[in-house]
Amino acid sequence: MNASLLTTQQQENHVVDGSIRRNINSMIDGFIGSLPDPNGLTSAERRGIIARYTAVLEGNFIYWMTATLLSVHSEDARPILLENLHEEVRDAHPAMMRRFAIAAQAFPTDTDALAVHEDLTNVRLFLGRLLGVQSVLTMAFFEGFIQRFMRYLADLAKAEGSTELEYTDVHGVCDIEHTEGLFRALAAEMAVNQPDPEQDIFEGVYLLRTLIQTIVFGHPEAVKA
Ligand SMILES: [Fe+2]
Repeated sequence: MNASLLTTQQQENHVVDGSIRRNINSMIDGFIGSLPDPNGLTSAERRGIIARYTAVLEGNFIYWMTATLLSVHSEDARPILLENLHEEVRDAHPAMMRRFAIAAQAFPTDTDALAVHEDLTNVRLFLGRLLGVQSVLTMAFFEGFIQRFMRYLADLAKAEGSTELEYTDVHGVCDIEHTEGLFRALAAEMAVNQPDPEQDIFEGVYLLRTLIQTIVFGHPEAVKA
């Protein structure tokens, strides 16, 4: 179709459905494909992944979705982000996350929290810049990753002898719709709040990807040791 015949909103949808979304999906595919076999890990390594994941997700998901809500200019993006937050709070997802970690005997220690400290801080500071498009894109990547990661996280917990899988069951399903919603919010935000062309719109995505790599593979210095 001739791009000049499209409205601005249609053009933004086109970009979001096309190259941006392909890029996000291929980053998630690459990451999921690199995950170590849970049965090839030691119990301590499996526990560490669950603990670092919990150290990041329990206290930060709602915070980061709230930061994203504060960052957007689009009136159409806001209800999508609000609905996501509403579900998180109403269904007490942080409590669900904590139950999952405790049952797998993987509640984070100070060592687990400090292993992600630097990368976590980088994502917090980035989202604090309140850049609408970049923040929504970062959370779209996050939702897409979480949904694809749930089966693996459940396998780690099962290998640790846990049967408490409500967190992974719920997020393997609800985050499919959440990811779709975030991409709709991204299209809406891009239509009204174009990022500075000097800025890399994937900056937050890359910072979050680094954090997720640290969750799975541990702190680079710990990996070397
Ligand atoms: Fe959640």
